[in-house]
Parts: sequence; C-alpha cells; structure tokens
Amino acid sequence: MVNFYKLAQPAIFKMDPEKAHELTIKALKTGLAFDRCKHQDKRLEQNLWGLNITNPLGMAPGFDKNAEVANELIDLGFGFVEVGTLTPKPQEGNPKPRIFRLVKDQAVINRLGFNNEGQDAALLRLQARKMNGVIGVNIGANKESNNRIEDYLKGFHTFQGVADYFTINISSPNTPGLRDLQSPQALDELLGGLMQARTNIIDHGGKIRPIFVKIAPDIKDNDLEPIIYKLLDHKIDAVIISNTTLSRTGLREQNLKNEAGGLSGRPLFRKSTRMLARAHLISEGALPIIGVGGIENAETAWQKLEAGANLIQLYSGMIYQGPAIIGNILKGLSQRLDQENLHSLASIRGRTADQWANSKPE
Ligand SMILES: Cc1cc2nc3c(=O)[nH]c(=O)nc-3n(C[C@H](O)[C@H](O)[C@H](O)COP(=O)(O)O)c2cc1C
Repeated sequence: MVNFYKLAQPAIFKMDPEKAHELTIKALKTGLAFDRCKHQDKRLEQNLWGLNITNPLGMAPGFDKNAEVANELIDLGFGFVEVGTLTPKPQEGNPKPRIFRLVKDQAVINRLGFNNEGQDAALLRLQARKMNGVIGVNIGANKESNNRIEDYLKGFHTFQGVADYFTINISSPNTPGLRDLQSPQALDELLGGLMQARTNIIDHGGKIRPIFVKIAPDIKDNDLEPIIYKLLDHKIDAVIISNTTLSRTGLREQNLKNEAGGLSGRPLFRKSTRMLARAHLISEGALPIIGVGGIENAETAWQKLEAGANLIQLYSGMIYQGPAIIGNILKGLSQRLDQENLHSLASIRGRTADQWANSKPE
C-alpha cells in the first residue's frame, strides 16, 4: 500500500509543527486516504474495566485536544483514543512557536500550555459522534483557576455521558504548579473528591467510569512509592506513565534542546519504561498501567508491555512515521506472540520489570 504520509512528510516537515498538526487534523476530518490498519488479532484484545479494547495501542492525548477526530483515529486502527487535555474554560496556551521537532533525536519539545477550546465545545462534538471504539477524556485545570480541584471535578461531571474513561492530568510541565498536585497530600484531596463524586453519580443510577491518573517521569525514585500507594488507597483504576520530561539528557539537537517545555519521543523511552516497571513492582501488579513515552515500533511497544504495562499509547511516533506506525506495531506484536507461541498479552506483563527497575536511572 502507498504510504501517503511518507510521501508528504518532506513537505510536512518544512512547515511549522503546529501548522502541520492543524493540517493533519483537517485531513483526518475530510477522510483523506490515510493508511488504515486492518490488522485484527483476538490475542491483542483485552477486556479491562468492562471495556472491550480491540488492541493495546492507544492514541495519547494532545493529538486530538478538542475531540475533533476521535472516530477517525479509531478508524486508523488505534484500540482506544484519549482526547484532551480539556480545561473547563477555553484557553489560548503559551505564545507561539511552542512545538519543536528534534529530528536527530526523534523527539519533540512542546510547551503548548493546555491550549484548547474548552469542555463545552468538546462535549458537543462527543455527543454528536456515533459510538465507535473506546474514547477516554483527559481533563485538566485552567491556568488562571483559583481552585484547580474544582476544575477536575467540573470536567468529571461534564463528560459523564460520553467518556469511556477519565484521565486526571496532573503532570503537564507547561502549567505552572500543576505537578504539585502529585504530592501525596494534594492527591488525597483531589482523588478523595473525585471518588466521592463518582460514588454520588453511581448512587443516582449513573455508570461507573474508570478514573486514571497520569504522572510525570521526573518524579524522584523515592517519591514514586507514596504516590502509587495513594492511587491504590483511593482505588484509582490505572496509572498512566508518563507525560513529557523536563530532562534534556543525551540530546543531539544542540540548537533546539534548550527550548523550554516537555520532551517526548525516543529520549523518553528508557526513563518512562523504568518508572513503569517500578510502579508495577511497587503495586505488586495490582494497579493497571498504561505505558507511554518513546514507543516507535513493535520492539519498544513489546518492551513496555513486558516491563508491566497493560496498555500503551504514543504520540511522537505518529509525528515521525504517520499512521503506518499503527499497523507496524500491531503486526509486530502478533509476530512476537507467534514466535513465543503465546495466546495473550497478559502472559508477558511485567516479566522484565525487575531488570528495568534495577537499571541505572538516567
Ligand atoms: C505536542 C504534544 C502535546 C501534548 N499534549 C498533551 C496533553 O494535552 N495532555 C497530556 O496528558 N499529554 C500531552 N502530551 C503528552 C503525550 O500524551 C505523551 O504522554 C508524551 O508525548 C509521551 O509519549 P510519546 O513519546 O509517544 O510522544 C503531549 C505531547 C505532545 C508531543
């Protein structure tokens, strides 16, 4: 099949990354001929939190911030799609330029700062879409909010009717002070409030919506354990590891590496995978994990699953390879299962966690 993205990539890479992204969203909306992954394999399917997830690879949030192309992304072959981050009020984000491609590093730096059209606009879109695949909604707080916890509660209530799951994003490095919500004390208040809200909804006949928490890869080794315990205490349904990093270790793009913002893509792989392995061991496998950070092929996807992830997501790989990355990864995972004569992904979960956890920190 012709790889349209590969043909168009030289032109796309001459454009400002944010403009290129806007064009990609437009192209997806018009249903232009993207490579669609038709790969199906029962062994890649999982039923988690009562959701039937057709394959473990999800579109990470940030790509479809405003829930414009959720169905189209499912149609490309993703097993689930996370839209957002959405804040209660619309928000411009930081001044442009604010996305940078570090091509030599196969990485991206962004300091978007939760630019989005706000929750009401996204809600209308999600209500209008015909149900198709698993869609999560990633919620955040407005930069100028004087009660961030209220902002998360607002998002949780707003999307009750349309979200298959919620992600509480407390790990963006681009909203000053947001990551402070990762402290155990702040987590008690935030997660206590959310779980109480969920109980109230269920008591009134509402559906249980799983709640995930997305954390930063820059949490210090000693601080991870209390955070994971808090998530377990509050019966959070999964942890997403990880968001972008502030680290700039080992980068080759000398001119761009000092741009402020969060780094994603290949240089994030080891750091985020080591952290997810540690989280798997700390929770003794009890806390489901979604692994994200630097997945660029079937090998890196497999490694995340072996380190302890139940599901995986990617974003930067899509920028460098386009939608063909989906088929490559899914077919590659099936091949790996064939090679080891395995019947499910669950059988590899966590089997290399010890090695990763004992590996040297960055
Ligand atoms: C341009 C860009 C925008 C992003 N925006 C968000 C966001 O709004 N919310 C969020 O939780 N993560 C956001 N992320 C982080 C990704 O979801 C993901 O956690 C991170 O990029 C690591 O995955 P990757 O290495 O596959 O890109 C963004 C990443 C990029 C590159």
